[in-house]
Amino acid sequence: MTSAVFENKSAIVTASGAGIGRAIALRLAADGAKVVVSDVDDAAGAETVELIREAGGTAVYHRANVASDDEVQALVRRAVEEFGGLDLAVNNAGIGAAPQPIQDQDPAAWQRTLDVTLTGTFLSLRAEIAYMLEHGGGAIVNTASIAGLQSTAGLTPYGAAKHGVVSLTQSAAIENADKGIRINAVAPGAVETAALANLPQEARDGYAAQIPMKRLAQPEDIAAAAAFLLSDQASFITGVTLPVDGGTLVRGS
Ligand SMILES: NC(=O)c1ccc[n+]([C@@H]2O[C@H](COP(=O)([O-])OP(=O)(O)OC[C@H]3O[C@@H](n4cnc5c(N)ncnc54)[C@H](O)[C@@H]3O)[C@@H](O)[C@H]2O)c1
Repeated sequence: MTSAVFENKSAIVTASGAGIGRAIALRLAADGAKVVVSDVDDAAGAETVELIREAGGTAVYHRANVASDDEVQALVRRAVEEFGGLDLAVNNAGIGAAPQPIQDQDPAAWQRTLDVTLTGTFLSLRAEIAYMLEHGGGAIVNTASIAGLQSTAGLTPYGAAKHGVVSLTQSAAIENADKGIRINAVAPGAVETAALANLPQEARDGYAAQIPMKRLAQPEDIAAAAAFLLSDQASFITGVTLPVDGGTLVRGS
């Protein structure tokens, strides 16, 4: 069963083979969008498409490594070919590096994290905005993190990349504010995706205890915020990074 919020809209969701990206793809499809599910894990991406179709939605899979300009350009072309345009995009791909003090950080891990998380978001925005500017505008959401709004010891590359995603969101929003393209970001706190779900219960309880709401976010919590920011309900909102963190940031440290 799908609703009409995004009826006749074409959407791309990067890294939607799992976790938050999958929840966003499912949510946009349930709200009526035709979704290009994209990932580098083909089996996982195909599974997301299957889940969308089983729920009565429309989706196709297209492999794209967001760190490759050619692949990102091809992803936008695929949305246009498949669904006749591109109205909505969620630039969700992001990876972290093993937590280390800065003097022990591996430069290669730094570079990988920046390539996917920051450059990937830049390349995605660049391709999507170029299309939307010529074809009636659109709405974009980037997946940032509370690590992009507050710095955490040990998370140097991830934190720097996510602060960069927040800055990209703001610059792109200002550049396009009067051109019919809104660009915002969601900033999740700890979300119960595979990485956290595989931790022992005690460790998960430990994370949850730090959060004012005393629970981890579910991927669907982040998807709901992304869907809101993409929708006409948010028609006067651009350039914001919306924490979806159960009160973590406002509590401070
Ligand atoms: N899980 C959390 O607690 C949390 C918190 C804050 C922010 N985030 C952010 O949310 C986003 C999604 O995280 P998640 O936890 O759902 O991840 P996940 O690990 O559950 O899924 C990540 C997906 O990204 C894909 N991917 C990896 N590299 C890619 C690339 N180069 N191009 C395209 N796809 C690629 C993977 O194949 C995988 O399917 C990331 O940007 C992450 O930084 C997550």
